[in-house]
Amino acid sequence: MAKLPYKVELSSENKYFWCACGLSLTQPFCDGSHRGSDKKSLNFEVAVPQTAWLCGCKMTKNPPYCDGTHNQLEE
Ligand code: FES
Repeated sequence: MAKLPYKVELSSENKYFWCACGLSLTQPFCDGSHRGSDKKSLNFEVAVPQTAWLCGCKMTKNPPYCDGTHNQLEE
């Protein structure tokens, strides 16, 4: 699991599936690796194109966006 956020360019024309379980091999987005568990991806869209920092540690309180919680995680 990454301890840092991922910088991504988001389009207002796409739907996104943020990996909430940390198992995806295509971070920070879902690749279906959660199947068979009780986890689900978080589906989201943006109204305007933007650069965003998506959480990689999966501990954010504001998913899918990084809220700085990773700074409090132990090594
Ligand atoms: S990467 Fe998860 S809170 Fe920043």
